[in-house]
Amino acid sequence: MNTAHDLDSWERAYRDFETPAEEIRKFERRLRALGADRLDRSSRILEICCGRGNALVAWRRLGFRRAIGLDLSYALLRLADAGTTRVVGDIRAMPVADASQDIVAVHGGLHHLPSLEDLEATLREVARVIRPDGRVVIVEPWSTPFLTAVHALSRQSPIRRLWKKMDAFERMYELEHTTYDAWLGQPAAILATVRRHLEPVVLQRRWGKLMVLARRAAPGGAVDAAR
Ligand SMILES: C[S@@+](CC[C@H](N)C(=O)[O-])C[C@H]1O[C@@H](n2cnc3c(N)ncnc32)[C@H](O)[C@@H]1O
Repeated sequence: MNTAHDLDSWERAYRDFETPAEEIRKFERRLRALGADRLDRSSRILEICCGRGNALVAWRRLGFRRAIGLDLSYALLRLADAGTTRVVGDIRAMPVADASQDIVAVHGGLHHLPSLEDLEATLREVARVIRPDGRVVIVEPWSTPFLTAVHALSRQSPIRRLWKKMDAFERMYELEHTTYDAWLGQPAAILATVRRHLEPVVLQRRWGKLMVLARRAAPGGAVDAAR
């Protein structure tokens, strides 16, 4: 991923896939579906892999005023709204203090990690920076019949020529397929890794997405029942 000023090929495809307005609406819809809009509006939110910052805008639209973003790509962070706080950093070793965040969220960043060890390191970091009673939001691609059908469609050349969104989707896939396919191919191992660090309160797998609202797993795995 790019830490320089210019967008690389994947970043250009990602930019072409949907407009900021479309992406913000999508993030808002997903946060509502998880019930994240009912969390305390004064929460300190760390949006990791925030890219061009559209999830930060979605949080703001839901009334949360204390969201900051972290991403590896300086080029994408530069596209984010100048009014948002953004930090360049790697999610596997975050420049963030222990127990300093009420909510950590990620929309489509974990599947870019090269290996399960990187996911383990990242979730350890998430558990470190979140307060003991904090919440974690995870939205990532997931292998479902819907996603298989979308990929079958986006591989067709005539479809790519006529439908720019599908072309951008396929370009992104071509450029990230190693990590993306590895992610989609090991659902059980991914969920086991998530559960080692987090206790899901809501977990949905549909329409090609894994959507999780979780709390930090208590040592020994016991958690209180209150949401
Ligand atoms: C599909 S984009 C996510 C979109 C983003 N959530 C948004 O709100 O616009 C994936 C992002 O993950 C970032 N990323 C990938 N690996 C990372 C890492 N190890 N640490 C931090 N960011 C990373 C990329 O730079 C990219 O911006």
